[in-house]
Amino acid sequence: MPRHLLSLHDFSKEELVSFIERALQLKKERNQGVVHQQLAGKTIGLIFEKPSTRTRVSFEAAMYGLGGQVIFLSARDTQLARSEPLKDMARVMSRYVDGMVVRTFGQDVVDELAAYATVPVITALTDLHHPCQILSDIMTVREKKGGLEGLKIAWVGDGNNMANSWIQAAGKFGFELTLACPEGYEPDAGILALSRAETKRSITLVRDPGQAVAGADVINVDVWASMGQEEEQAERLQVFRAYQVNTQLLAGAPHDCIVLHCLPAHREEEITDEVLESAQCVAFDQAENKMHIHKAILEKLIA
Ligand code: CP
Ligand code: NVA
Repeated sequence: MPRHLLSLHDFSKEELVSFIERALQLKKERNQGVVHQQLAGKTIGLIFEKPSTRTRVSFEAAMYGLGGQVIFLSARDTQLARSEPLKDMARVMSRYVDGMVVRTFGQDVVDELAAYATVPVITALTDLHHPCQILSDIMTVREKKGGLEGLKIAWVGDGNNMANSWIQAAGKFGFELTLACPEGYEPDAGILALSRAETKRSITLVRDPGQAVAGADVINVDVWASMGQEEEQAERLQVFRAYQVNTQLLAGAPHDCIVLHCLPAHREEEITDEVLESAQCVAFDQAENKMHIHKAILEKLIA
């Protein structure tokens, strides 16, 4: 049975920590010029139904960086676009490649691919989760703060895929998480309940962004309208107006807190240009770390 990474729920805390430790090591070795070949002879297929810059390129660079090869498929160019069943796609792809990295809408799509694939399936973002992103974010927090022990992490904005994966991470890693979301834009209730049952630390939902960032070591922000929600953009601009991460909000947070944004960012919407370009914001380190964490994931699942 292949091991899939559909959400962070699929791995134990120890395994998630080992991805991060291994990624830190691989990052160090890349900077030293070490050449890796542990995935030589292996090929992964990237199947993307939504746009991507970072996730696509960092997975491709990670695979090439370990000596492997990549086939990129835009889902609209495949027979999936003409209603070929997912279960057939999964079995056909499994005959060609050693793993599939999938970005799509419904979590049910990756679940079904995984049910029929005989190679690992890795979620590269769905409407419900963005697990690999959260691992690179936690790696970044680990680098900047030295560890997760005793940290207070805040989420400001939409209770979206990123928020859900942060909640799963809080359950697994056991850090304190406070999410400030407007009414009607809360994260997934089932994921919240499961993660709360998993940890002794608090996972709290509030309305007031100021309350979430007070005492926070890390502040997370993401777009107000995710991919697939373009038609709600105008309405969301109104709803989320009070949730902008700007210097006024940061004035209520500790001076050494860091700001995370998975990017792409909409400047002057969810985050001001001033904050995004400030030394407190570590978005570009997060972006780099995606490649290192993807190497660690591919090495464990595909090698
Ligand atoms: N952060 C992230 O997933 O970016 P892309 O949409 O560019 O892959
Ligand atoms: N929540 C965003 C994340 C983009 C990386 C989206 O789904 O569009």
